[in-house]
Amino acid sequence: MKNQIVTIDTLIEIVSKGGTVKTGIDIYNKSGILLIEKDIPITNLNILLKIKENGVLDIPIVPEKAGGIWDYQGNMISLEPALPKTHQLSEIELKIRKINQIKKEAGIKYKKAQDNIKKVIDDIKKTGGEFDYDSVEKTVTDLLNFLTIDESAFSYLTKEIFSYDDYLYNHSINVCTIATAVLNRFNDRFSSIISKYMVTFSLNNLDNADKLSTISYIQYQPEELNDIAIGFFLHDVGKVLIPDHILNKVGKLTDDEFQIIKTHTFEKGISIIEKNKLHYNPLIRNIVKYHHSELYSEEQRCYPNDKTHIEVPIYVKICKFADIFDAMTSKRCYKDALNPILVVTEIFRQYSEKTPLLQFLLHTFMQVVGIYPSGSIITLQNGQLAYIIDSKGPIGIPFTDRHGLTLKGKPDPMNLESQEVIQKGLGIDRRKPIRSLKDAYNLLPLFLREAITE
Ligand SMILES: [Fe+2]
Ligand SMILES: [Fe+2]
Repeated sequence: MKNQIVTIDTLIEIVSKGGTVKTGIDIYNKSGILLIEKDIPITNLNILLKIKENGVLDIPIVPEKAGGIWDYQGNMISLEPALPKTHQLSEIELKIRKINQIKKEAGIKYKKAQDNIKKVIDDIKKTGGEFDYDSVEKTVTDLLNFLTIDESAFSYLTKEIFSYDDYLYNHSINVCTIATAVLNRFNDRFSSIISKYMVTFSLNNLDNADKLSTISYIQYQPEELNDIAIGFFLHDVGKVLIPDHILNKVGKLTDDEFQIIKTHTFEKGISIIEKNKLHYNPLIRNIVKYHHSELYSEEQRCYPNDKTHIEVPIYVKICKFADIFDAMTSKRCYKDALNPILVVTEIFRQYSEKTPLLQFLLHTFMQVVGIYPSGSIITLQNGQLAYIIDSKGPIGIPFTDRHGLTLKGKPDPMNLESQEVIQKGLGIDRRKPIRSLKDAYNLLPLFLREAITE
């Protein structure tokens, strides 16, 4: 049996007669919720009926991944001649479809989040500070759920910033999704490492400042993570009350202008959260107030200075890194976007040696943002362009020659970090920015375009 798409009605008919179905790949609904796990044989009709209810009408079956359809006696059924409408999809096409499905969903979530932050900003301008907190909470919860889909999910939610008009909207969403993705990973993996690190040898090696800061790290509970994510979303809310001519200034700020910008945290930001009774929430308040405070002793141009870096909580430090990262990787009217991998390496270089805690933190940061997201386009060292089909590896399909001309046929995917590929000079050119699909659409070969626009 070859890989194929089978209608849900056909599968319902087979299972109702005692048959079994196994897809071989995970199936999600439009909201990114897992409906079928790839390795679970389905014998229960209700599961398929639920899936139909979810609007999923065609199910891919991938025998290459141990998927298949069996009758009540356990004999594999080949459906090819009997199926009313099937077209065979390769594993690559199925993957591209899945990437597109997630991207589309991300687009919808992003638009909703953008509308929400626009409304928050408008309300603050109209009322002098009040906004609808419940709608912010709903929007952020929606973003958080989306982030659990896969490791590239946050990257689908970050958008380039082209103009100052949408700066605050997109920056709020970008910082929220990047910082949340990092904090989730940190919370899951590093808290246990830190506990071990604390109790075993390193307390003796840390200076007092780091001891305190390390010990003060507690694993955050889901409700706290939710509040922290809301804080990330609102971190720059105080900028709404800063005059546009200062915010939009392209050149260097004067000292006086810098003093005014600073107030978006401890003064304007705090006044807005007080008006909305959010100052009782220390997680949100700390982020709004301290996201430009020092990450290590005597870091320059930090504000406010009433907390030392030891007292600045880890989630606030993560917010500051996400803020720096987003500013550097965003495309703006006056500058190109830098390659995120380069940026994160540069941030790591600048900060990781300052304190052991920052080193821990930046390791996580690199794991989360230092990937080439599925569905993005990168340049190889010989000038060829490649479509990333899996951020793990990463695995890419080269689709142009070294002169930028579209390749004919269907090139095989390859692991772009494998020794063999690097020796051939086909590794990734890290100096070049990651390109969006839109940018390179005209260069895509037909088979990729078809899979992408399915
Ligand atoms: Fe800020
Ligand atoms: Fe910011």
